[in-house]
Amino acid sequence: MPLQIIVGAQWGDEGKGRIVDWFASRADLSARYNGGDNAGHTVTVGPRIFKLHLLPSGIIHPQVTAVLGNGMVINPRTLFEEMDILNGSGISTSPDRLRISYAAHLITPSHQALDKALEGARGKDNIGTTGRGIGPAYTDKATRRGLRVADMLAPDFPERVGDHVAETNRTLRMYTAPELDPAPVCAQYREFADRLKPYIADTSLELHAAMQAGKIILVEAAQGTLLDLDFGTYPFVTSSSTTAPAALTGLGLGLDAARTASVVGVVKAFQTRVGSGPFPTELTGDLAMRLRGSGANPWDEYGTTTGRPRRVGWLDGVLLRYAVRINGLSELTVTKLDVLSGMENIKLCTAYRQAGKTLDDLPFGPSDLSPYEPVYEQFPGWKEDVGGVRNWNELPSAARDYLDRIASLAGVPIRLASVGPERDQVVEKV
Ligand code: GDP
Ligand code: IMO
Ligand code: MG
Repeated sequence: MPLQIIVGAQWGDEGKGRIVDWFASRADLSARYNGGDNAGHTVTVGPRIFKLHLLPSGIIHPQVTAVLGNGMVINPRTLFEEMDILNGSGISTSPDRLRISYAAHLITPSHQALDKALEGARGKDNIGTTGRGIGPAYTDKATRRGLRVADMLAPDFPERVGDHVAETNRTLRMYTAPELDPAPVCAQYREFADRLKPYIADTSLELHAAMQAGKIILVEAAQGTLLDLDFGTYPFVTSSSTTAPAALTGLGLGLDAARTASVVGVVKAFQTRVGSGPFPTELTGDLAMRLRGSGANPWDEYGTTTGRPRRVGWLDGVLLRYAVRINGLSELTVTKLDVLSGMENIKLCTAYRQAGKTLDDLPFGPSDLSPYEPVYEQFPGWKEDVGGVRNWNELPSAARDYLDRIASLAGVPIRLASVGPERDQVVEKV
């Protein structure tokens, strides 16, 4: 399979990073196609925990070339911080193994200031963004006044940055938010440009060449299906297309690439979301605390990027089936099965009920989920710690029954389940 696309089937944080790391041992390239440093992808390798925001998780494997695609919005400051951390861990980020699309857009401090001002103006109706300037950067892209990576090659790049800061200041003034001094931003972005120049490439061309040479390209989505700008719980979404078809446009690949693609949907064994918006299967009280964890474990449900506690609930099978359809998933990977060990009962939402009628699908997508009440099937839990299980048949039968029901509800097979955050804590269904 030359193209393997790994996407989140929920509201993000499904464990995409660690699953990409698992697939990456057999990949030649690892690419991101959407979003920016709003993403936080964790990969655990023994005592080392990598928290990646911009770099694709495959970069940890030495044979992999990493690609940041044209669909991304890139904050150079975060990128360099991340590169420095990896370099310090002995992982090279030299230009021969990191390629950045000339057509990706740049995030600046002005975008971050605007993100904050817009959220402030929304008051109690805020989206709960990550504050990374994602929405304003994509807004500039859509209104055709964005700064692109290729602009860094232009002799007048610092002046363009100055114009951008001045332009954004006009909007900040409207929100009575503090304005930015253009001079230090221009100076800083001039330095960023000097460092970034050797990495800038036509990544579409390079990916095409790699495909023609039969290389395996691993594509890593940021966020999740339900945060997609078109198909998510709008307006409580991010500002990019997070779903699998967007991998093609976000990397400059044509429809021919799709013919060779497998699409893996990563789904937690339960449901979480961080930020505002609808969540029909949300839990509160003791059960919620049990699923979220106290924060004592690195995998407890607190945001990788913002540290905010994640909202938690039972797995929503209606939304999962929707994610299968929108992404064209070929298979599922279920993560965090170990977290459910020791629960007396586990519930799975298999349908919604509205005005006495049972619905298997959403009539108008997931924007407004308020009319629906989840219909649950209850499963007996299992007591065993599954963290050491490596063979499917060694999983407790109650866990296998739960997974089988998820697969039948989704209509696609589950090929992998993870039972802990470590590299080898993956169980393959053969
Ligand atoms: P991503 O954004 O989809 O890459 O996911 P995050 O890294 O934001 O959040 C997933 C969290 O769960 C990270 O702390 C992972 O190390 C952790 N994790 C992933 N898979 C498992 C698993 O199977 N079990 C446990 N306990 N933790 C996991
Ligand atoms: P990964 O890739 C979970 C959420 C924010 C907010 C909404 C909009 O780690 O799965 P934004 O800053 O993008 O404008 O925020 O989207 N959000 C995420 N939630 N995981 C993510 O990424 C997210 N990226 C953005 O919390 O609700
Ligand atoms: Mg995350």
